[in-house]
Amino acid sequence: MAELSWGRRFLVCPPEHFGVLYEINPWMRHEVTVDPDEAHRQWDGLVAALRQAGAEVEVLPAHPEVPDLVFTANAGIVNGRQFVPSHFRFPERQGETPINAAWFAEQGFTVDRLPEHLDHEGAGDALPFTPAGGGTVLVSGYSFRSDAAASGALGDLLGCPVRPVQLVDERLYHLDLTFCPLDDRRALCAPLGWDRYGRTVIEALVPEPLWLEDEEALAFTANSVVVGTTILMPHVPSRVGRQLEAWGFTPVEVPIGEFLKAGGGCRCLTLALDVVLTPAVDPTTA
Ligand code: ARG
Repeated sequence: MAELSWGRRFLVCPPEHFGVLYEINPWMRHEVTVDPDEAHRQWDGLVAALRQAGAEVEVLPAHPEVPDLVFTANAGIVNGRQFVPSHFRFPERQGETPINAAWFAEQGFTVDRLPEHLDHEGAGDALPFTPAGGGTVLVSGYSFRSDAAASGALGDLLGCPVRPVQLVDERLYHLDLTFCPLDDRRALCAPLGWDRYGRTVIEALVPEPLWLEDEEALAFTANSVVVGTTILMPHVPSRVGRQLEAWGFTPVEVPIGEFLKAGGGCRCLTLALDVVLTPAVDPTTA
């Protein structure tokens, strides 16, 4: 097996203005209060775990009035030095887009926008899988937050094949709650979140899926961050932990309970900055 080619540099945003101030997914409850000190401790713990695993961490400054900016996975899609900012479905998060676009432009990225009328919530709904010997495919989730039609537009902008997968369980409202690429053969997969066609797409793409039970998926097990062979996970069910260890991975449980109150886990709190979507090389023209 070959380790992922990405996942050594991440963007994070500190929880200075984080809270559950509205309800845009089934986990968010307005009456629930976030403990800000605990949220900071947990976020610091995640950043320390990323560094400990060998990743570099870049920090997007927090911003008042956009509490979900902490979930940098939703900032957009990175492809080399190209950045496609998200178009958020809900007005509550739409104020994040100019902040993200400005940060990436300042860092020297080329910022390419989706057509205005298409919703897509970035790496939260789009994760690359590169099978051994093949080109990268971007798996793109749609229904609750992103439009199916965004897949075609993303394929054009990114120059990479995009496979749309319909999300069907509103508790697993982003792709990154259902899918976590581990290497060039394996991924954590939560079929609870996908329609029948989506399941066949994943089965055709991933040679050795680790299928998550429904309760494992609903505990955000797939919302994990892979750094080489280290996997930072909101929850490590013992069955899943044993399988990952048998494959040579080191699963590490990182408590992020304050963020689960907003419906986000470890992956949501990070955005990989070192993704390069490499199309398949056609052997007849190479
Ligand atoms: N409260 C945020 C929202 O509902 C959580 C985002 C989680 N992000 C993710 N990549 N799954 O938009």
